[in-house]
Amino acid sequence: MRVKQLRVNDIDQIKRIVTRCKGLILHTDYTYWTLLYNFRNLCFGIEKKNEMIGFITGVKNSTSKDTLFVWQLGVLSAHRRKGYATKLLQEFVHSASKIGCKKIRFTIEKPNSKSKNFFFAFAQEKGYSIKSAGSVDSHEFKTIYEMGL
Ligand SMILES: CC(C)(COP(=O)(O)OP(=O)(O)OC[C@H]1O[C@@H](n2cnc3c(N)ncnc32)[C@H](O)[C@@H]1OP(=O)(O)O)[C@@H](O)C(=O)NCCC(=O)NCCS
Repeated sequence: MRVKQLRVNDIDQIKRIVTRCKGLILHTDYTYWTLLYNFRNLCFGIEKKNEMIGFITGVKNSTSKDTLFVWQLGVLSAHRRKGYATKLLQEFVHSASKIGCKKIRFTIEKPNSKSKNFFFAFAQEKGYSIKSAGSVDSHEFKTIYEMGL
């Protein structure tokens, strides 16, 4: 198993995971290219036996300069509850500290208790704070959370 920084030629593998993860929306190749081209240090994949089984992508907030945003995170269902998403988020947090970011925001759809449990368990284990930071304007059912590192 290894965690690696994603590159633009990983887009097909990312899309393959997205289509298999309920709760993630599949975006265009160009959207993934934009993320990987501009935020490569915030996009990681996890590979097992040369197959990508999970990934995380994120962006840096351009007005709150110490804040990152997790855009998509997914692990194939056959590989869940083995700590892989934790490893991906750890790598993301590590990148955050390298570029002086102290806050990580993410959104949770109200019915996605898996995702909420995951982020809250991560914060609790690392001793990070979590607070609500509003909701996505166009989607009232998505709550924004902020994890303080
Ligand atoms: C949420 C998701 C990324 C978690 O991936 P994972 O690799 O299974 O997570 P981990 O193994 O690192 O889990 C760490 C901890 O999070 C919590 N957790 C993770 N999945 C959980 C679940 N289904 N139910 C309850 N708690 C859960 C647990 O505390 C877990 O520790 P434990 O297994 O020792 O009890 C994965 O379920 C997924 O891809 N879901 C679909 C896509 C999605 O919802 N993405 C998040 C929003 S962008």
